[in-house]
Amino acid sequence: MSDLKALLGEAVETAFADAGLPPELGRVTVSDRPDLADFQSNGALAAAKRVGRNPRELAAEIVGKLAGASAVMSVEIAGPGFINFRLTDAALTARANAIAADPRLGGEYVATSRRVLVDYGGPNVAKPMHVGHLRASIIGESLKRIYRFRGDEVLGDAHFGDWGYQMGLLIGAVMDENFAAAAVVERLNAGATGEDLGPFDTVSLADLDRLYPLAAARGKEEPAYRDRARKITAALQAKQPGYYALWERFRDVTRVALERDFHALGVDFDLWKGESDVEDLIGPMVAELDAKGLLVDDQGARIIRVTQDGDKRELPPLLVVSSEGSAMYGTTDLATILDRKNTFDPELVIYCVDQRQADHFEIVFRAAYQAGYARPGQLEHVGFGTMNGADGKPFKTREGGVLKLNDMIEMTRTKARERLHEAGLGENFAEAEFEDIANKVAVAALKFADLQNFRGTSYVFDLDRFTSFEGKTGPYLLYQAVRVKSVLRRAAEENAAPGPITVAEPAERELVLTLDAFEAALAEAYDRYAPNALAEHAYRLAQAFSKFYAACPILQAEPDVRASRLALATAALRQLERALDLLGIAVPERM
Ligand code: ARG
Repeated sequence: MSDLKALLGEAVETAFADAGLPPELGRVTVSDRPDLADFQSNGALAAAKRVGRNPRELAAEIVGKLAGASAVMSVEIAGPGFINFRLTDAALTARANAIAADPRLGGEYVATSRRVLVDYGGPNVAKPMHVGHLRASIIGESLKRIYRFRGDEVLGDAHFGDWGYQMGLLIGAVMDENFAAAAVVERLNAGATGEDLGPFDTVSLADLDRLYPLAAARGKEEPAYRDRARKITAALQAKQPGYYALWERFRDVTRVALERDFHALGVDFDLWKGESDVEDLIGPMVAELDAKGLLVDDQGARIIRVTQDGDKRELPPLLVVSSEGSAMYGTTDLATILDRKNTFDPELVIYCVDQRQADHFEIVFRAAYQAGYARPGQLEHVGFGTMNGADGKPFKTREGGVLKLNDMIEMTRTKARERLHEAGLGENFAEAEFEDIANKVAVAALKFADLQNFRGTSYVFDLDRFTSFEGKTGPYLLYQAVRVKSVLRRAAEENAAPGPITVAEPAERELVLTLDAFEAALAEAYDRYAPNALAEHAYRLAQAFSKFYAACPILQAEPDVRASRLALATAALRQLERALDLLGIAVPERM
C-alpha cells in the first residue's frame, strides 16, 4: 500500500519521463492553495526553461499523458504552467478505508531492515545532568521508537559515564570526609579480604551531589588535588579493589535514581552499559592499535592522529592513553565501537549527543575507520542545539545550577496541575488518576516543545507556553486526542458502530489527506533524524480533526454517515496516538 502523494508523484514523474524530461522535475508537493487543489507540480516551468519551450504548452503535454489517471483525479493547468491535482472523493474514500484497516495506520516499513543502535541520554555518575542530557534523552528516545516502528532492529543504550576523571575526584572527596568508608577502601587496596562493606552504605546520592561540584572546582584550582584524582582514576581503571568497591557503590546509587527519573520522562533504555563495561577490551585494543601502527607517543601519552587532506581546520588527535596511563572519554568510545561490533554488529550507530561534542565524535569516528572497527557512514553523530533560558544561555535552574532531571519534571508537573485546574480538567477524578494525567501533560509539554523544532535549532525554555492547552503544544495535542476518545466512548455507549468510510465533505477530504501525509512525515523523520517532521504531522492531524469535528456531526448523523465518520475519527485517533507514541508521548484515557 502506498500513500496517495507517492502514487501521484510516480505517475507525474512517469509523465515527465514520457515527455522526454528529467523525471525528478515532476516532483509533487502538497498544494499551497488547498481551496483549489490537493497537490501541485511546478516542474513544467523549470523544464520549459531548460528545453526552451512555452511552459503552459509543456504543462498541457504532460497533462495529456496523465489522461489515464482521470479515474482518481482531475488535473488543471494554472497560471504560467503550474499543474494542479485534485483527487476524486472515490480515491480518498479508498485510501481512508485502507488506512483505517491498517494496523500501522499508513506508516510503511523500510525496504531492508538494519540493526541500529541508538546511543543517547549519556548521563554520568555524580556529575549532574545539563540540558544537553535532557535533549539527548528526548530526541534519542523518539529516534529509537521511529527506527523501530520503521522495521529496524533497534537497541537504545544509555552509555553511562562512569569511568572518567570525575570518578577519581569523587573517590578522593568521599574518602576525605567519610573516614569509616576510607578505612575500608585502604584495607581493600592493601589486599584485605572478607571486609564488611557496611560503611559504604552510608554514602548517599546526596553526598555525591554535594561533593562533586566542590571537588571539581578544587581540581581546577589545585594541581596537587587534581593529580591525586588522576592517580586514583588510573588505579580505579586498573581495578584496585578498594577504589573499585567504593566506585561500585557510586555507580549503583546513581543508576537507580537516574533510571527512575528517566522512566518518569518516558525514557527507557534497552541497554544500560557504562564506559566501564569496555575496560577489559582496552588493553588488547591498545595493543592492536599499536600493532597497526596507529599509535604515536606524545609527551608520555599515546595518541592517534586523525587529520586528513582537505580539512579546513586542524582536528586534535584522539588521546588513547593519558600520561597517567588512564583511558579517556574517547578511549572508552572507541572501545565501545569495538564492543558493539562484537556483540550486536550494528549497521548504523546513531549518537544522539549535544552539538558541542561534534569534534569529539569526528575524532573518534575517524580513529575507528582507521582501525577498521567501522566503515564510513556507519557512525552518525546526530547533534542538536541547546535549550536556553530567558538570558539566551543554556538553561539553568533557579539556583543557577545545572539541571536536575527530577527537578525539571517536578517543576513541570506542578505547572501542569495548575493548568489542569485552570481549565477545569480532571476535577472529579481520584487523586491517582489526576496525578497520572498531570504527569502525562508535563511530559507532553516538555517533549513536544523540544521535538517541534528541528533538532539543530536552539529554543527558549518557557514553561507557561509549553504547558498551555492552546497553541502548538503537547497539552493541546493530548486534549484533542482525549476529546476524540470521549466521542468514541459516547458512541459505544449508544451502540453506534463504525462502518465503511465514504468521503464527501471538504473537512473529511482534508482529514483523509492529512492521514495520508503520515507516511511522508515518518519517512522524513527517519531519513533526516528529524522527529520534528512527526511533531508537525501530529499537530496538523489534531487540527484537521478539530475542523472535521466542528463541520461534520458524528453522533447526530444518520446511520451510514455516522458509521463512516466514527471509522474516520477512530483512524485519526489511532494515528495521532501512534505519532505521539513515536515522539515518546503517552495519551491519558480522559481528562
Ligand atoms: N556522558 C557524556 C557526557 O555527559 C555523554 C555520552 C555520549 N555518548 C557517547 N558515546 N560519548 O557528555
